[in-house]
Amino acid sequence: MQNLGANEIRKKFLEFFESKGHYVGKSASLIPNNDKSLLLINSGMAPLKNYFSGVEVPPSKRMSTCQKCIRTGDIENVGKTARHGTFFEMMGNFSFGDYFKTEAITWAWEFITQHLHIPEDKLWVTVYLDDDEAYDYWVKEIGVPEERMVRLGKDDNFWEIGLGPCGPCSEIYFDRGEKFGCDNPDCKPGCDCDRYLEFWNLVFTQFDRQEDGTYPELANKNIDTGMGLERMACIMQDVDNIFEIDTIKYIIEEIEESTNVKYGEDAKNDVSIRIITDHMRAMSFLIADGVLPSNEGRGYVLRRLLRRAARHGKLLGIKEDFLYTLFDRVKKVSGEAYPELVEKESYVKKVIKIEEEKFNETLDQGVEILNSYIAELKENNEKVLSGQKSFKLYDTYGFPMDLTQEILEEQGYEIDEDGFQEEMEAQRQRARADRGAMEDEGWKEDPLSTLDESIASTFDGYKNLNVCGNVTAIVKGDEVVNTICEGEKAVVVLNETAFYAEGGGQAGDIGTLENEETIFEVVDTKKGANNTIKHIGFVKKGKISVNDKLESKVDKEIRMASARNHTATHLLHEALKEVLGDHVNQAGSLVTPERLRFDVTHFEPISKEELKLVEEKVNTAILDALDINSEIMNIKDAKEKGAMALFGEKYGNEVRVVSMGDYSVELCGGTHLNNTSQVGLFKILSEGGVAAGVRRIEAITGKAVYEYLTNRDTVINDICVALKTKEDNLVQRAHTLVEENKSLTKELQDAKTKLNLQSVDALLDSKVDVSGVSLLCAKFEGIDMNSLKETADSLRDKVGSGVVVLSNVVDNKVNFVVTATNDVIEKGIHSGNIVREVAKIANGKGGGRPNMAQAGATDISKVDEALSYASEVIKSQIK
Ligand code: ALA
Repeated sequence: MQNLGANEIRKKFLEFFESKGHYVGKSASLIPNNDKSLLLINSGMAPLKNYFSGVEVPPSKRMSTCQKCIRTGDIENVGKTARHGTFFEMMGNFSFGDYFKTEAITWAWEFITQHLHIPEDKLWVTVYLDDDEAYDYWVKEIGVPEERMVRLGKDDNFWEIGLGPCGPCSEIYFDRGEKFGCDNPDCKPGCDCDRYLEFWNLVFTQFDRQEDGTYPELANKNIDTGMGLERMACIMQDVDNIFEIDTIKYIIEEIEESTNVKYGEDAKNDVSIRIITDHMRAMSFLIADGVLPSNEGRGYVLRRLLRRAARHGKLLGIKEDFLYTLFDRVKKVSGEAYPELVEKESYVKKVIKIEEEKFNETLDQGVEILNSYIAELKENNEKVLSGQKSFKLYDTYGFPMDLTQEILEEQGYEIDEDGFQEEMEAQRQRARADRGAMEDEGWKEDPLSTLDESIASTFDGYKNLNVCGNVTAIVKGDEVVNTICEGEKAVVVLNETAFYAEGGGQAGDIGTLENEETIFEVVDTKKGANNTIKHIGFVKKGKISVNDKLESKVDKEIRMASARNHTATHLLHEALKEVLGDHVNQAGSLVTPERLRFDVTHFEPISKEELKLVEEKVNTAILDALDINSEIMNIKDAKEKGAMALFGEKYGNEVRVVSMGDYSVELCGGTHLNNTSQVGLFKILSEGGVAAGVRRIEAITGKAVYEYLTNRDTVINDICVALKTKEDNLVQRAHTLVEENKSLTKELQDAKTKLNLQSVDALLDSKVDVSGVSLLCAKFEGIDMNSLKETADSLRDKVGSGVVVLSNVVDNKVNFVVTATNDVIEKGIHSGNIVREVAKIANGKGGGRPNMAQAGATDISKVDEALSYASEVIKSQIK
């Protein structure tokens, strides 16, 4: 066999399928597009689901891709063995209702035996238990000897994910020879040992799994195959595991150089090197696709990968931030196939570096918290840190568990490992439940997919808000129906419509579908299967049947409000780039009739001055009354024109470019105004952080700004009335009032203290004798701590010899102060110990010196009980 590099294998694969009439698609972003069922793309077919289920029309019925994928289910094991990785590339060929089993099998065999030249006697094939069709084809037509055919059950040879398209599959294995095998003389594919390596999965997607557990046949039979690029490279390069293939080894070599640790010499170091290498690939691709570290979802996956890698760098003895320096090698080996790595180089490095720095801070914070836990253990005379606490450190503060363990051990403590595992399991359950819920939703099939392309809709509403169309389909509940009657909720599809379907961050239109007898109230508009636009709503009057003619009438006021916010969003995007710099990219956008919300990549809070400048620029572009034009053009021309495109967004060859004078040019399918002046006015309401490196701006336009200003006016007027002043004087008046309030509070405080001190002499009579020591207890309320201490001092001096214990209730809490004269201290009295015991009764803590001590407590109902306990403590202290 020829030793082929991973990049060469990818090229050969795609060229082969191109020669078989396949359209070669680019790898989709790792971030699923409009698919709630998945956190990250995890197989070649995942970004193509809509082609399988008919919601979207593929560019060709035969496609081939090499898809970047991430699977984190096994993250705990990555690195521990050389078998696991989180990042991998999956090559595949797909048929959407075109060819089926026989072609898929024939071509797979042709590619591996005639193009990769893998010897036939090293190849084994598995099929699903009762898939005789595939079995016979492999044996009779391809000529695979029956002794190298294996039938396996549902776990191995039936591919399904949640509900929806699924089917039996056939897997091809490579026999790596006896040295990888186990003792079982019957060892063959399906065995757990390392001898047979599965490298290509051919899925015959022919069923449509239903909620009731049945598997009706799909109208269109599809093919979905997946071949792991790294695995194939292992075979072609005759190496033991993926960490030894050319592209991955290249990264390992850089780690060896920068750490002076050699791979393959020490098992523990090898684990660290593998973790860093794998996670480095995963994080580079994730960030280049627009994911930023955060505490939830994809951002959390990225954060964990990055922190884990950083932590293992520390274990290898690296002191400074280093992960970002490894990016160069990732880019070098994968940049040609994935140009986003080259385009986003400086950005990716910056994100990695900032997160690494942040992690170092996290480590410092974690050590501090752990030290407080240890102090608590010491105080309570305990040796084991609870699972709950160690898990909190790990989960909330991102502090690595092994580090917790290490530090505890150093000081003679240990971790409750079972408790920790229990917490971990509980969290996994929660995550699983969340994922389960998502999977179902993502695969819920659109009933419109059971019809065909003839129901498709054309959107004709960029300029027209009234368009006539014919009803091509109606859906009621989960069913396609012919007619709906007054009062019924439904989805209506027209061949032509003025309604914009939710997309590109912009909300769907609302309005009515009408003819003389009928009114259908549209409450939302979304995209549906078979390229339809779904009008979602209810029949207000009359009834509607398929083929009826209806006029789609978009609510103009609402549409205009959305358009204002959308146009303003483009102006905002441009203004942010001008003010903050070119690193600013759109990370998310929401446009509704009420407001706009825009997320951008930026690494620190946007200052008040910057915001003001941005707001000013947007309003200038509005006042400049720039014409807004849209044109459809080739993606290349659009990029030449300088059109801003979005991170990780999938664009076809033809794109719509929206330009606003010379100020802003952006790829966009949304609805806009004719001229920027129609925005009216633009006002930023808030700015804040949503994740590390992402800032969110919320703003309003047009009438909403007018309403906002009117409201402000009313509020200001009301305040003027309440403060009995005029608007010009309002700020001054507010300052004066605050000052007045401050000095009044002080006066009141002083008066109270004076009053307290005046009554102090009367208290002297209440002193009692406890085993020969005078004790004076007294209760106060609402005085400040300093006065309380002064009072205690003066009482002690007046008593001459003895102990003074005072309580003071403020704001539903109580303070205690204890002071003692030197002669009784010599007898054994300790104010600190007295105050601690006394405060405990009222659920509090404290301590101090023998002559002066204080405490705070929360249970004010126990003040009397606490004070009277003082005499008990004194008795126990007398020598
Ligand atoms: N979708 C199939 C897999 O991921 C090919 O194995």
